Amino acid sequence: MREYSGFLISIEGIDGSGKSTLAQSLAKALMEDNHPVILTKEPGQTRLGKKIRNILQQEKNLVCDKAEFLLFAADRAQHFEEVIIPGLKKSKIIISDRMADSSLAYQGYGRELNIELIKKINSWCMNSITPDLTLYVDIDEKTALERIFRRKQLLTAFEKESITFWKRVKAGFEEIFKGKNNVIKINGLQSQEEVFNEAYSSIIKAL
Ligand code: TMP
Repeated sequence: MREYSGFLISIEGIDGSGKSTLAQSLAKALMEDNHPVILTKEPGQTRLGKKIRNILQQEKNLVCDKAEFLLFAADRAQHFEEVIIPGLKKSKIIISDRMADSSLAYQGYGRELNIELIKKINSWCMNSITPDLTLYVDIDEKTALERIFRRKQLLTAFEKESITFWKRVKAGFEEIFKGKNNVIKINGLQSQEEVFNEAYSSIIKAL
């Protein structure tokens, strides 16, 4: 039996997949249809999370790979305590732009840290709660990097990583989501509207 009455959705994908735009438009559309929605993200939703996000993105040179994972995990624990669990208790539909699977893909497969340990720590940080639905926006790493460079924003530490790192992260997502029936894989090369329509109907079906 589930302990909470809300519905938890995570949106995952490599940088440049378009998942943040998707998360925003899904939250807006669900609210317009009178659903009680919370739009949130990892890392950086809570006050502590914002500080952690700055360290991770701007001061990567200070942070070794294990510390990097533990900082994401600290952000996640705080996020669950302050946002996710209270939201689920209030029967909200929570849309989170990234969650635990990002640590598996980036730190587990990308940085090649111990996958089983990451799973255990994630689960501990999340009080064993898992997303009811995951939308995986699938895009190849070459197109993703082209999109990131086209944005002309200052690159974050992750965006400066090599193509081999991105290949490992992308393969990681594929591996993590293989055979999971609560994961909807969406082709991120489609138009924004097509991606949205597919994602929206998957949510309505799952609610
Ligand atoms: P964002 O750009 O989607 O906000 O995510 C920030 C970066 O952090 C992005 O490059 C993915 C990365 N990340 C991890 O490496 N591990 C994690 O657990 C999370 C949540 C994000």
